[in-house]
Amino acid sequence: MNCLICLKAITGSKPSQYHGSCLDQMFGSRKLDLELAESRTDLVRAMPRQTQGFSISGVQMKAQMAVQDGRLQLIDSGGEFIVKPSPEEYPFVAENEHATLTLMSKVGFPVPPCGLIKLKDGHLVFAIRRYDRDLDEGSKLHQEDAMQALGVSNVDSSYKYTAASYQTVLEMVNSNAGAAVAMELLERLVFSYLVGNDDHHLKNISFLHEPLFRLTPAYDVLASSLYSSKADSPLALKMLTAGEPSYYGTMGNGYYSGSDFVELGTKAGLREATTRKRVAGVANRVEKFAPDIVEASFMPDDMKARYHDLVVDRLRFIRELEPA
Ligand SMILES: Nc1ncnc2c1ncn2[C@@H]1O[C@H](COP(=O)(O)OP(=O)(O)O)[C@@H](O)[C@H]1O
Ligand SMILES: [Mg+2]
Ligand SMILES: [Zn+2]
Repeated sequence: MNCLICLKAITGSKPSQYHGSCLDQMFGSRKLDLELAESRTDLVRAMPRQTQGFSISGVQMKAQMAVQDGRLQLIDSGGEFIVKPSPEEYPFVAENEHATLTLMSKVGFPVPPCGLIKLKDGHLVFAIRRYDRDLDEGSKLHQEDAMQALGVSNVDSSYKYTAASYQTVLEMVNSNAGAAVAMELLERLVFSYLVGNDDHHLKNISFLHEPLFRLTPAYDVLASSLYSSKADSPLALKMLTAGEPSYYGTMGNGYYSGSDFVELGTKAGLREATTRKRVAGVANRVEKFAPDIVEASFMPDDMKARYHDLVVDRLRFIRELEPA
């Protein structure tokens, strides 16, 4: 059995779902009652009430959770965790998001502690520690998504896909936070592309302001294109503000190459040589870690196989990197 937090094998005589150290890291205790609900239906039934006045928006049903009196509980507000069961129409999204964020952390991006929680009927739900809480003081840190940071109003829910290009977001980050932060965002976009996260829209990019303007840790990253149709674009936003990058057309299949990501970076004001190195670095680390993490994950076998094939394809596209 692999640990529902770190995905590494649990050795030892007693059957267990987690390493003690992983529980400690995520929940601050090795001994706690992890029974959240009997079933997904029960959990979801308990949620709408809990979700009222919930300051965390988004599309998927979710609730706040806390450790109280030594056990996990859904709560109305101030929860230290967010729980997301898989949507009924998209089975195994929880397992997919957990595997993807675990890989993302391994590749070197900041990811809040996250894991899966097994309901009594065996169903797995995704849980992640909130990064917008000050653990010592319990106060809330102000976060802002890319739409807010760009000053675009959220009148229509489609605006998160159409109101700006990745180039515009990178330029805004470059001028507010500098090239190092913009480069990290570009690397996250490359990661998303490599794992088939085709939903990296303006509300899935957020910033913290204190003490400095910076990216939040990663959230809502999963191989969502495993659920999309082949005709859908592999990226949620347009890459460039005007037109498509020059290598794109020559791929002839609707996919982007490494050269296209380098062009995106340079158009947004990043240094070409650094961008090339970073794009290649993300690809190398994904290639190194993805097979084992996908295999160790809790996705069903056919999904693991499709995830694996997707990453292999995307690595091939990203390695289309015209020599400088
Ligand atoms: N770990 C977290 N800590 C703090 N805020 C979070 C965290 N994860 C998500 N959020 C906030 O909640 C919103 C919705 O969560 P998200 O995971 O994007 O769900 P959905 O799949 O519904 O879009 C995000 O846009 C972000 O503002
Ligand atoms: Mg989201
Ligand atoms: Zn573990």
